[in-house]
This record gives sequence, structure tokens and C-alpha cells, in this order.
Amino acid sequence: MLNRSLLSSGLAALLATTAAKPIDPRQAASWPEPEPCTGNCTYIHDPSVIRRADGTWYRFSTLGNIAIATAPALTGPWTYKGAMLPGGSKINVVKNQEIWAPDVSFIDGTYYAYYSVSRSGLQTSDIGVATSTSCDPGSWTDHGSVGVPKSPDYNLIDANFFRECATCQNYWNFGSAWKDVYQTTLKGDFLAWSGEAPRQQLYNSTTTPNQNFPSITEGSFLFWWPIRNTKYYYMFFSSGACCNAADSLAAPGDEYKIMVCRSNSPTGPFTDQAGKNCLTENGGSLVLGTHGDNVYAPGGQGVIYDPDVSKVALYYHYANPKIGYKYKEFLFGFNYLDFSSGWPVVTS
Ligand SMILES: *[C@@H]1O[C@H](CO)[C@@H](O)[C@H](O)[C@H]1NC(C)=O
Ligand SMILES: *[C@@H]1O[C@H](CO)[C@@H](O)[C@H](O)[C@H]1NC(C)=O
Repeated sequence: MLNRSLLSSGLAALLATTAAKPIDPRQAASWPEPEPCTGNCTYIHDPSVIRRADGTWYRFSTLGNIAIATAPALTGPWTYKGAMLPGGSKINVVKNQEIWAPDVSFIDGTYYAYYSVSRSGLQTSDIGVATSTSCDPGSWTDHGSVGVPKSPDYNLIDANFFRECATCQNYWNFGSAWKDVYQTTLKGDFLAWSGEAPRQQLYNSTTTPNQNFPSITEGSFLFWWPIRNTKYYYMFFSSGACCNAADSLAAPGDEYKIMVCRSNSPTGPFTDQAGKNCLTENGGSLVLGTHGDNVYAPGGQGVIYDPDVSKVALYYHYANPKIGYKYKEFLFGFNYLDFSSGWPVVTS
């Protein structure tokens, strides 16, 4: 998540160089409404959802020192339980900093939550990690920064941990705007950077032609899924204007949206459905955008297999224009995905 309104407008001249990718109206027409969500489904940005072995679902989200809610099913009813880091983070990047974009994984018996410490428009953010054995508020131990070096090329926010199996190499994706999404690895304790130089994975992969910034590609989430005899690695991400208010809504097509690129390897190269490279050719395929009367600017997504219904769910935040576009009015939404074509398609 990154509020572009505070970014330098000095990059505005770069605007015209990004090609427009209008939303295919047939695709938009087939997007269903979000699945029903009951209980507390508001004040949600950049959700991260995990299902505990006992069947309790946990939802983590931006602000409130990472808000934690629980539910008996992905559909709810969701109950707010408290903050993950009630006293804030050990990391100190800037005055009035905020904690954003949690990414929670269950790794070798412990829950790891990677979180961003930042403020709108800041490029020198940092990513920290906290651990818990239960996920509940009050149980989290903050370990501070993961220690990836800062760089003018990227912004250290929007972490995403990926490991395919208990003995597999871990991959750790991060990044927002600037030169977009990078990938590195963590040490075997999952608390610290391995020292492997971050490699750029997605660049300019945006449908947004009219932004005052070369590209906003951020919030990556890597997910693997087998299609017949082939294993594919899907890099979901968000693109477009993340955080517009009612008085400055993005131009149609520029709104925040969920996109995907695919590879045969978790390390890329990633390409889109048209075969365009997502690092060198501005590739990226649209999965879900603004549609109908009720869904504006879906993004900040994650993907999880829901064993309660044996389906893969794509969850995200969005605004409902009938409710409002204020930060606290953003909602938790999800839909199921059909991968049978080899590409994720939102279905009802
Ligand atoms: C609903 O959840 C949000 C965080 O997601 C929290 O800020 C808010 O206080 C909760 N509302 C209630 C009534 O618990
Ligand atoms: C990425 O965006 C920058 C700035 O708009 C542009 O100069 C560059 O050519 C773009 N690269 C690709 C691969 O589209």
C-alpha cells in the first residue's frame, strides 16, 4: 500500500510512456459480487488470512498496530480481537509511522507475521517480523527488522513469504512502486535476511496509464497450483491508484486492481497471459478490477486454499461506493478462483 498523492510530482513527465490496458468488458461482466462476509468486515486494508489447525480463521490487516479478527469460517462472522503489536514495532523509521501490510505464514509450528513500517509516500520504509504460537493478540513477540538493506531502487513494504514444502527453499517477495517487486530469501530461522541480493521480479506491470508515477506495482503474493501435470507459480499483485478519496477518485481504469503473472519456477521469469514478460515487457493480466455498483478498487490481496469448501479463495480489500471511499470504510472481500484454464479466473 502506498499513497501516491504524497509522492513527488516530478515524475509526472514519465506518465505518457506507459501503455493503456483497458479492462476487457467481457471479463468485467463476468466478475461476480464478493462472497458474503458477516460480522466485522470493515476498516480493512491489505488483509492477510490464515486458518489455524483447529479451524479458526485469523484475519490481519493494516493499521491499528495490525488489527486481528477471528471467525469460524472465511465468510465470518468476523470478530475484532485486538492489535498484533499493541505497543508498536521495535523498528523506528519515521515520526508518526504506521504498521502496514501484514503477511502471516505458519512455518515449522510457529506463526510468522512480516509487517511494514512506513508512512504515506515514504521510500525508506522497513519490514519487521513477529512470531506467535497461537496467532492471538497478546501472544506476539516482535523481533524487529528482517534486515534487508534499504535501496533507492525499492521500498521495503508489502512482504510475502513463500515456501512450497518444509524442506524447500524459502522465497521472500517485497516491494512497492519505485522499481516495484523484488525477491530474496531469508535465513533458516525466518527472522533475518539471508544476505542474497534482492532480484527484481515485476516492473511496470500496471494497467494504469495516467498515474503521476512510472508504475505502481506492489503487494505481491506468490501462490503455486498444479494444472494437470504442470506446477505453476502465480505472482498476484496490486496495480493502480491504491488509496483515493471521494474527492479525487482515479480515472476509470486507473483504480487499484488485482493482477497476476505466472512462471514455471518460484524465481521467475514471470509472464502474463499474452506471453509478455512481467519484468521487461510491462506484462500483467487482470484478475479483478472495479465492477458493478458495489466493488471499487479491489487490491491488497492474498490467496488461500479453503479446506472448508475445497476451493481456492482470493481475498482483498475494496470500497463499496454506496458505503463510501474513506479509509475506514474499506471492506474485506473474497471470491473463489478457478484455475482450470491455467490462469486464475474469479468465479461465483
Ligand atoms: C472492526 O475491525 C476494525 C479493524 O479491522 C477495528 O478497527 C474496529 O474497531 C472493529 N469494530 C468493532 C465494532 O469491533
Ligand atoms: C518502465 O517505466 C519507465 C518509466 O515510465 C520507462 O522509462 C520504462 O521504459 C518502462 N519499462 C518497461 C519495461 O516498460
